[in-house]
Amino acid sequence: GGQAMWGGRFATRPADLMQAINVSIGFDRRLADQDLAGSRAHAAMLRMQGVITSEDEAAIQGGLDAIATEIRDGTFPFRDEFEDIHMNVEARLRELIGPAAGRLHTARSRNDQVAVDFRLWVRDACDRTVAQLKRLQGALLDRAEQHADTLMPGFTHLQPAQPVTFGHHLMAYVEMFGRDAGRFADARRRMNECPLGAAALAGSPFPIDRDATARALGFDRPTANSLDSVSDRDFALEALAAATLCGVHLSRLAEELVIWTTPQFGFVRLSDAFSTGSSIMPQKRNPDAAELVRAKVGRLMGSFTQLTLVMKGLPLAYSKDMQEDKVPTFEAFDALELSLAAMTGMVLDLEPVAERMAAAAGAGFSTATDLADWLVRTLDMPFRDAHHVTGAAVKRAEALGVDLPGLPLAELQALSPGITPAVYDVLTPAASAASRTSFGGTAPDQVRRQAALWRERLS
Ligand code: ARG
Repeated sequence: GGQAMWGGRFATRPADLMQAINVSIGFDRRLADQDLAGSRAHAAMLRMQGVITSEDEAAIQGGLDAIATEIRDGTFPFRDEFEDIHMNVEARLRELIGPAAGRLHTARSRNDQVAVDFRLWVRDACDRTVAQLKRLQGALLDRAEQHADTLMPGFTHLQPAQPVTFGHHLMAYVEMFGRDAGRFADARRRMNECPLGAAALAGSPFPIDRDATARALGFDRPTANSLDSVSDRDFALEALAAATLCGVHLSRLAEELVIWTTPQFGFVRLSDAFSTGSSIMPQKRNPDAAELVRAKVGRLMGSFTQLTLVMKGLPLAYSKDMQEDKVPTFEAFDALELSLAAMTGMVLDLEPVAERMAAAAGAGFSTATDLADWLVRTLDMPFRDAHHVTGAAVKRAEALGVDLPGLPLAELQALSPGITPAVYDVLTPAASAASRTSFGGTAPDQVRRQAALWRERLS
C-alpha cells in the first residue's frame, strides 16, 4: 500500500506494528450498515444545505448503494491498510465513483462518524434485546399459567420455607425480565441523540443542519455539546450495565434449573434438545445450556468493567482509547442474545415433575407458619407465643418422625389446650398456598391475575 488516507503530512508510511495496533476493521466491520446509514444522511443533508451539488450527492448515494450490495453479498474488500470501517467505505467509494467520494467527508470527522455509527448499533442492540426479553417473558407466562396451581416448596437459605406455586415462582422472573426491558428502554431514550455534526470536536463552520441528520437517522434530536458528542460512551456503558443486570437474572434462573434438574431435587426435566450426555457416564443428562447461561454473566460484567476502565480518566474530547469500546460491547450483546434465546428454549420445553414438587412442598414442616397464624387468628394468641408453641410442635413431630399434618391432635393439645381439629385444614401445602391471597401473593388466583396483567402489557 502507499500513503494512508491521512498521509499528506507524512514522509514515510507507518510501521507494520503501528498498523497492527491501530487496525480495527477486524471488528468494526460490524458497523458497516450503520456507517452507510450515517453517510447517506450526511450526504443528503450536505446537498440540501448546498454544501455539495446534486450530481455529487447522486454519485455518492449510488456508490453507497453499490457498497451496501457488496457488503450484503460478502464481496466487499475489507482491507487492513484502511484501518477501520469508515476509511474502508470511503476508499471503496473512491474506487467506485472517483473524486466525488472525497466530498462526503466535508463537515464530518471520523470522531462524530464513529460516535453515530456506534450509537446506532447499540440502539439496535437494545431494541433487539427488548424484543427477546418479551419473548422470554411470554414463554415464562405460558408456563406460569399452566402451573398456577402446581405446588412447590418456596425456599429461603435454600431451606424449605413456605409452599408456593411453580407459576408464582416463574412469575418472579417475569417481573425481573420486565425491569430489564425497562432498563434497556430507558437507556435507549437517553442515548437517542445524534452526535453527527460535532465533527472532530468543535463543531463545523459549514451551514450543516443537524436536526435533519438527527431526524433521518431516527434520533429525537442532535446532541447539544460537540465535545461531549465525540467523547461520550455512557450510552454503551448504560446498555452494558443493563445487560449485566439482565445476566444476573438469567444466571439465577439458570442456577435454579441446574438445581431443579438434579435427581436429588427432580423438580424439572429439561428436554433432550437442551440436555447433553457424557462421553464416559452413560446415565448422564447434563444441563450444559443452563450452566453456560449461568456463566455468561461473567462476560457481561467483564465487558462493562473493561469499557468503564477504558473511559475513566480520558481527557476530553476523543482519544484512540475509545476504539476499544466496540469489542466488549459486541461480545456482551452476542453473549446476551445467545443466553436469552437458549433460556427461552429451555423454558418452553421444560417439564415440571408435579408430584415431586408437591411432595417437597409439604416436606420440612413448611406449613409451620400456617399453624402459628391459626393460633393467632383462632385463639387470639400473640404471634411470639404462637411461634413458640409451633416450634415445640415441630420439635415433637420431628421426634415422632411425622410431618405437621400427621401430628396427633392430643400432641398439639398438650402444647396448647385450645387447639381443635379445624387446625388440620390449614396444614396442607395446598391450603397454605391458597390462603396467601394478598396482592402479589402465591395464591393461584393471584398468580393468574398477575399473569393476565402481564399478558396485557406484553400484547
Ligand atoms: N476507528 C476509530 C474508532 O473506532 C474511528 C475514529 C478515529 N478517529 C481518530 N481521530 N483517529 O474510534
